[in-house]
Amino acid sequence: MPAKSRIFTGGSILTGTSEPAWVEGIMLVCAHHLPRLLLCAACTAMALPALCTGAAMLQGQAGVNPLEHLIRSSGSWALRLLLLALAIAPARHAGVRLARSRAWRRGKRMSDWNWLIRLRRPVGLGAFFYAAAHLGLYAALDLDFSLEELASDLRHKPFIATGMLSFLLLAPLAVTSTDGWMKRLQRNWKRLHWLVFPAAILAESHFFLLSKTGVTGWRIYALALVALLVYRVLRGRVPTLPTQDRIDGTVAERPPQAAASDIRQ
Ligand code: HEM
Repeated sequence: MPAKSRIFTGGSILTGTSEPAWVEGIMLVCAHHLPRLLLCAACTAMALPALCTGAAMLQGQAGVNPLEHLIRSSGSWALRLLLLALAIAPARHAGVRLARSRAWRRGKRMSDWNWLIRLRRPVGLGAFFYAAAHLGLYAALDLDFSLEELASDLRHKPFIATGMLSFLLLAPLAVTSTDGWMKRLQRNWKRLHWLVFPAAILAESHFFLLSKTGVTGWRIYALALVALLVYRVLRGRVPTLPTQDRIDGTVAERPPQAAASDIRQ
């Protein structure tokens, strides 16, 4: 029976769960449209800081030093989005556990929380976009595109060197984030994308080293990063969660999309 016709035809007999039919119905409709809606919402939300900063600049409300404000806010958003991208896997893990405890077996696309994993690529690309803008602004406003100045900053300012290293690690991740690269690299894709952890550590070190110049606020990001790293270390030791197929006790054929998202997990 097609998924949608199940929605209004009755409760637990058809769904095999304790959820009332209308709850399952809402879940199925959400599961159908949610990924696209979430993607649009995520892209809009990620564009907002850039738009707001642009608007503040135009209205002359970007503080006493608007150029410094531009560099700092792009750097902050790069780090926030990077941490958010890292937080998606633990959030999915928690979501799957919740779905399993509530026996949400229908609407596989919803209850396997793969839609959340699919947000990781746009969020990661958003982080890279802000980091690239951050670097571009620094090169234009602080260095006037002078390579000698850059070389001197890299030698004499450790926070510039760590920021640059972080960016250099993020760049190949952004380039290889497409499905084409994922298929080409197969298992090596996952290995390559582990670079996101050293990149995040370097970005956080960049922020920490900046604190010596009076920049504050690195602690909260450091705390979030440590929590995410601890989760990763612990996750490496515990057995992998069963996939939804195994939760359902069925061995359904997996769609090609799922295969790509499996590599991402
Ligand atoms: C590509 C090389 C990079 C360079 C040259 C660079 C340079 C800078 C500069 C000049 C500042 C402002 C310092 C000040 O106002 O005193 C800054 C701040 C910052 N950067 Fe970078 N950065 C780089 C990469 C990154 C990356 C990859 C991230 C994060 C993913 C990042 C995150 C930050 C943060 C969070 C701040 C502090 C923002 C605040 O004041 O709240 N930077 N960076």
